[in-house]
Amino acid sequence: MRFPIQLVSGSAVGHPCDLLALLVSERALDGGKIADAALGDADRALGGLLLRAAAEEEFRGKEGQTLSLHTHGKLGAARLLVVGLGGAGKSGGPERELESLRQAAARAVKAARSVGAHKLAIAWPRAADPERVALEVQALAEGSTLGAYRFDRYLREKKPSRLARVELLGRDAGKPPRALDEAAQLGARIAAATCLARDLVNEPAGKMTPRALADAARKVAREHGLTVEVLGRAGIARLGMNLFLGVAQGSLEEPQLVRLSYTPRGRRGANGAVSRGARPSGGAARRRAAKDGAGSLALVGKAITFDSGGLSIKTAQGMEDMKTDMAGAAAVIGAMSLVAQLAPPFPVHGFFGACENMPSGTAYKPGDVITGKNGTSVEILNTDAEGRLVLADVLAWAAEHEPSAIVDLATLTGAILVALGPWISGLFSNDDALAAEVQGAALAAGEQVWRMPLPPDMEELIKSPIADLKNTGGRFGGSINAALFLQHFVAKVPWVHLDIAGPSSIDKEKGYNPRGGTGAGVRLLAELVRRRARS
Ligand code: BES
Ligand code: MN
Ligand code: ZN
Repeated sequence: MRFPIQLVSGSAVGHPCDLLALLVSERALDGGKIADAALGDADRALGGLLLRAAAEEEFRGKEGQTLSLHTHGKLGAARLLVVGLGGAGKSGGPERELESLRQAAARAVKAARSVGAHKLAIAWPRAADPERVALEVQALAEGSTLGAYRFDRYLREKKPSRLARVELLGRDAGKPPRALDEAAQLGARIAAATCLARDLVNEPAGKMTPRALADAARKVAREHGLTVEVLGRAGIARLGMNLFLGVAQGSLEEPQLVRLSYTPRGRRGANGAVSRGARPSGGAARRRAAKDGAGSLALVGKAITFDSGGLSIKTAQGMEDMKTDMAGAAAVIGAMSLVAQLAPPFPVHGFFGACENMPSGTAYKPGDVITGKNGTSVEILNTDAEGRLVLADVLAWAAEHEPSAIVDLATLTGAILVALGPWISGLFSNDDALAAEVQGAALAAGEQVWRMPLPPDMEELIKSPIADLKNTGGRFGGSINAALFLQHFVAKVPWVHLDIAGPSSIDKEKGYNPRGGTGAGVRLLAELVRRRARS
């Protein structure tokens, strides 16, 4: 759902709206006294009722705590919601504070929706530094848009939302109003791109076929001025992507290889075109990929639109969520939708190889040996370790573009959930500087990643007696041996692999992340592109 997010000036207490959300830190309610100007004003206007209610409800401003009151006409707002930001004795620094603003804004929007508010106003303890205020505004815009998301297209009874606008009470924050408006728009756009990824992930596999996913990429290209190329089975075969074709061969759905490209104005892209407009798919990919050079970025997403496990079939329960096995590609599509707006001075490509992993009379088999695009032969021991096979060929193609960095995102292993739990992505890299760069972007964007090792001595686990590699490495360190496998296909290009099997889809709402697809990776990638563009 989209609603305008606007910066307004004026006092929180007098501001006319249906719901006023006052975000307060733990410091605002110090030992039974009020140490926050807006909260103090509201308490006076309410004749001391706020402080009494806070005491009775044991509201202390802890992160996630809320206190809700009717104002009975004593404030400009019909209702007041005080939202805790926490902040006392918390580790994590400025990024952590922005994350609590995102979470609080999401709470405010959810509350506004549940009381049927048309107009929500948000006031928060603004930083003194105007640069910082712009970041706060962006975070609030992100949190409110992310928190309003719902996937209800298949529900007969949709809960209607009356929320028509969100106003942020910070126009007079010492920064030119234009800069704050832009920060709000940026936050809203990043969140909308995240919601696009959520929609793609939530769509059932019966609808979100490889073709449908390629169509989603075409649509993004058309709407955001990117070039797009889509190859079917024949084109994929011409590129020598036999590992990708092996995975796809058990399905009736044709595999689709997609390259989305952003080229800065005045530079030639990988397909030899200067154009920024969408071009029809076609033969350009058949020509040798041109070199992209300094600064350029290749984003690669896993795009298994349904993972049954193939002949090494999953259990019924193991399959329930496997429509989400294209979340990596969804994140790439979402991020690419932002790139033209972020307008970095370097090319950015998004790649994915979309197919289903199905058992059938034509399916690839355990024991098969397949040689991929870069000449590496692989013994297939488990057809459920399919993601690394498709990625192997697509990564090899991406590496041929000689980008300055590759970032792949993949729902690659269940083992990463065992290692890091449901909310943290594993980060693997062959380059410490790039790893640190991506970790920094994740932190700023409010996404959790944890660096994992790529120990050379574990290579032994993926050696095959009859081929260069095998596609499984045993039960132990499953995420690590999957990442070690991928490393064989990125040549010498600095590379980060994000195993997003945990956070890309969750079984229970958590803050601004809904149940189902979360859009994990989109905000991280947007922040990465923005940081690279600045440096
Ligand atoms: N798509 C799955 C990984 C996955 C599992 C994602 C659970 C999200 C939730 C992947 O293709 C897979 O099946 N991996 C296997 C690898 C094994 C066969 C070596 C796994 O994790 O069990
Ligand atoms: Mn699998
Ligand atoms: Zn999979």
